[in-house]
Amino acid sequence: MPPIVRVENLVKNYYMGTQTVHVLKGLNLAFDEGDFVALMGPSGSGKSTLLNVLGCLDKPTGGSYYLGEMNVARMTDDQLSEVRSTYLGFIFQSYNLLPQYTVVENVELPLLYQGIALDERTKRRCVDLAEMVGLGDRLDHRPLQLSGGQQQRVAIARSLVNDPHLILGDEPTGNLDTKTSVEIMQMLRTLNRSGKTIIMVTHENDIAAWARRVVRLRDGRVESDTRNDARSVVEMGL
Ligand SMILES: Nc1ncnc2c1ncn2[C@@H]1O[C@H](COP(=O)(O)OP(=O)(O)O)[C@@H](O)[C@H]1O
Ligand SMILES: [Mg+2]
Repeated sequence: MPPIVRVENLVKNYYMGTQTVHVLKGLNLAFDEGDFVALMGPSGSGKSTLLNVLGCLDKPTGGSYYLGEMNVARMTDDQLSEVRSTYLGFIFQSYNLLPQYTVVENVELPLLYQGIALDERTKRRCVDLAEMVGLGDRLDHRPLQLSGGQQQRVAIARSLVNDPHLILGDEPTGNLDTKTSVEIMQMLRTLNRSGKTIIMVTHENDIAAWARRVVRLRDGRVESDTRNDARSVVEMGL
């Protein structure tokens, strides 16, 4: 099977006035379907920039990006937003829920962006997802009435509503305490074991230990690319 994500000589610059900021300096990476990847590296090494490009939220300056068979680097903004809403799910550090909407309404949002009418079936799906992440008794709560961990679980349910090929997370446990982080990682691991491909930025070794593969960036280049062995998972007693 071809990789689900393949980037070749991926370059990303930001232009600030007369200054060019070289952030991604020619990355070559391929991720297989079903993998669970932690992107690590020091602050400023380009992790979020890479995730934003992979998530079609930003365009690369150069190089190629294939998502499955699609050459994403050549797409227009409209095509990119179509790819995002059809193939990708997002989980952010700050949850990015809409405060005026309930749990179920937040989960429904990607369907609205896709122009899918909400009927009994789609509503049922959103309720099922909210129940799956353990929020069956919070369906009508609003984000501010929930803990951080609960808000992130809403975000996970939302990321699944379009049945994405790929889930992208930028420090999904970055605002959570250790115990809640473990709950979120257990949930992501379960999703991965059910077949979802996950690419997640983290700067914490404890969090990266949940992934199958760890890619470290340094100064816009790949510094290392390793697999977590099965033993480290067993040692965590999980
Ligand atoms: N929109 C932007 N404009 C200019 N520079 C940016 C922009 N976004 C990020 N950068 C710069 O790119 C570098 C990498 O940023 P980022 O990808 O956010 O790093 P990380 O997520 O690894 O901390 C940093 O030096 C940052 O200042
Ligand atoms: Mg970042």
